[in-house]
Amino acid sequence: MKKVLVTGGSGFIGSHTVEALLEKGYEPIVIDNFSTGSRQNIAHLPVQCIEADVTQSEIIELIKQIAPDYIIHLAAQVSVAASVKDFLYDEQVNIKGSLHVIKAAAEAKVEKVVFASSAAVYGDPVYLPVDTDHRLQPGSPYGLTKLTVERYLEMSKSLYDLDYCILRYSNVYGPRQDALGEGGVVSIFSDKFAKGEAPFIFGDGEQTRDFIYVGDLAAANVAALTAQSNVCLNVSCGDSITVNELFQTMKRVTNSHLEPIYKSQRAGDIVHSTLANEKTKQVLAWEPVVSLQEGLTRTISYYEQELKA
Ligand SMILES: NC(=O)c1ccc[n+]([C@@H]2O[C@H](COP(=O)([O-])OP(=O)(O)OC[C@H]3O[C@@H](n4cnc5c(N)ncnc54)[C@H](O)[C@@H]3O)[C@@H](O)[C@H]2O)c1
Repeated sequence: MKKVLVTGGSGFIGSHTVEALLEKGYEPIVIDNFSTGSRQNIAHLPVQCIEADVTQSEIIELIKQIAPDYIIHLAAQVSVAASVKDFLYDEQVNIKGSLHVIKAAAEAKVEKVVFASSAAVYGDPVYLPVDTDHRLQPGSPYGLTKLTVERYLEMSKSLYDLDYCILRYSNVYGPRQDALGEGGVVSIFSDKFAKGEAPFIFGDGEQTRDFIYVGDLAAANVAALTAQSNVCLNVSCGDSITVNELFQTMKRVTNSHLEPIYKSQRAGDIVHSTLANEKTKQVLAWEPVVSLQEGLTRTISYYEQELKA
């Protein structure tokens, strides 16, 4: 059974990725410092979970001892807004932490590192949908640190023969996403709808987002382990809606009468985002299967149950 180390595996995307790995017969092992993730997210799964911090150099020896066949590297400071406020912390986790993982991966001779990158590496698009040939001009420290790690991975292929797959995620949503801190718009809206409170919309709400359901994304993470190596792919649904349209859809799903409260636009936020996924479908032999309506229904139902609990 192939061993897959999932850094950040007790987080939102990590916990779904662990589920998808188990379904496909892999042996996942989680490393997490529980800064935004929680043991609760994977408590229902038969998986070893080690508390460790990727920013500490001891992580290199730990990973070498685990000796995984593959690594899916998700551990990160995940908030664009937090990276704008404090780019030093963002750099510590997203660059230094990732370099520890890459060094360990090269020394442990893992078969491949799958890296969770982001649409934030593109910055504001000059054309839509954004494909992987689009110019790279991050508008936030978060986008810049993700891009830097991509470059290290490409370089590590030539220097240390370390295989990689870079996955640039669009906006991911689904159950277990953090709605309290800097979670995604869907989790924040779902939480607010469940509580009967009016959600905030930053800007005029006409900004567009390409939402991918977390189960579809987890399937892409797992497919990337054995698909073509040393490629960079968008993982998205390939279509986008405005935040206002998202609000209206969720209002219909919840039968709510709430109206949004508009606030000023946040620094570093991209205005329009749609990521082309044709190449991804071909390389990973994958496609998103959960419709937005179905994904939103599952997500809202999760937040309603959380509230009851
Ligand atoms: N959610 C999205 O829409 C989205 C979009 C693009 C990219 N991503 C990327 O996907 C990955 C997972 O994000 P998520 O949405 O699941 O967020 P998340 O906050 O739920 O997951 C991040 C996980 O990393 C862990 N972590 C953070 N710092 C750590 C450290 N120093 N050492 C060990 N573990 C640490 C957290 O505890 C958490 O479990 C991240 O790399 C993020 O940048 C997410």
